[in-house]
Amino acid sequence: MPNQFIPTRIKASNEDSSAERYGHMSPNHENCPHNEISGLSVSARDASCSEASRQGGLAHGGGSSDVVIDGASYLPSRHTVPIVSVDMLDEGVVQLVIRDRYIAEHAQPAQFANLYTHDGLRLMPRPFGICEIHGDEVSFVFAIVGAGTAQFSRLKAGDRIDVLGPLGTSFDLDASARYLLVGGGLGVPPLIQAAQELHREGRTEQVTAIFGYRRNHFADAIVGRYTEDVRSIDETEGNVITVLDRMEDELAQGSDRIVILSCGPTPMMKAIAGWASRRSIPTQFNLEERMGCGYGTCVVCVVDTIHGRKKVCLDGPVFTAQELGWEDEK
Ligand SMILES: Cc1cc2nc3c(=O)[nH]c(=O)nc-3n(C[C@H](O)[C@H](O)[C@H](O)COP(=O)(O)OP(=O)(O)OC[C@H]3O[C@@H](n4cnc5c(N)ncnc54)[C@H](O)[C@@H]3O)c2cc1C
Ligand code: FES
Repeated sequence: MPNQFIPTRIKASNEDSSAERYGHMSPNHENCPHNEISGLSVSARDASCSEASRQGGLAHGGGSSDVVIDGASYLPSRHTVPIVSVDMLDEGVVQLVIRDRYIAEHAQPAQFANLYTHDGLRLMPRPFGICEIHGDEVSFVFAIVGAGTAQFSRLKAGDRIDVLGPLGTSFDLDASARYLLVGGGLGVPPLIQAAQELHREGRTEQVTAIFGYRRNHFADAIVGRYTEDVRSIDETEGNVITVLDRMEDELAQGSDRIVILSCGPTPMMKAIAGWASRRSIPTQFNLEERMGCGYGTCVVCVVDTIHGRKKVCLDGPVFTAQELGWEDEK
């Protein structure tokens, strides 16, 4: 099962007493996600705004400002952080690096963060998978597809941005296995974070990155920092299923258990689910549904699962093929 809420977050209020670490936290809650979380469970909203305050664990404008989501998860409220760099990796593809010690210390592979524009006309956050972490620097890689991402692409080092995270569940990397990280297009960031985490744990030899691109292989160099086994492909040659088919004998002969982690367009992930289930290979998929709030209150992001309708932002974004009923996909 994908990891649910990460217990380390619960320590946040004690560990992170400096508002400065997260940038400015408004004394009048103006930057506080509670203002936007109108549907947040009563216990959550009250706990985060008043209960925690009574206990000395919450100090908008002074100390830490933890949020409780559905009574299960704690994290600092929306806060402002500095931008370290903004670079074009490819035409229309941007790498944005922020300095955020909390996210850097707590994010697990496949978790995401909400980035907020400073444009009052665009109140909803934009969710992005966390890509790489170096010290207290956290990077995101995104495509410019609309007004929000266009605004982010125009930011510069030294500018500031509002952020909330880390959010969502993470990949389960507990199994001793060979991990095939199968990504398409802008689905690769969470897989890069998985590669970085496995590398950090000294499990580099267990990682094969299989990335499918339209044209330029913009993320190969990044994931290449964490594994030598990068087998990418672009549309001139085929797609990620082409690569998996080519690996068929190699996988059958190897003694390692195989686990596939995947993120990308839904048709690609469904094709991978079918391919893997015919070979009894377990899969974990990072869904990138259209989102509103990003933390469980607006119900924009629901998907059907065998356990009923689930919120991708809170119950996911990681789901198995079984949970999604994708095992019979062709
Ligand atoms: C968990 C998660 C992780 C993601 N990680 C990445 C990533 O690493 N790189 C990347 O390029 N993209 C990623 N996306 C998609 C990214 O959030 C959207 O491309 C982005 O929000 C579009 O914003 P926009 O203002 O430019 O576009 P617009 O279309 O103008 O956005 C309008 C509204 O729709 C929402 N929205 C639009 N598209 C999406 C989408 N695909 N998913 C969720 N909300 C959407 C926006 O948040 C915004 O509220 C991720 C989405 C999710 C849910
Ligand atoms: S995005 Fe609001 S509930 Fe998931």
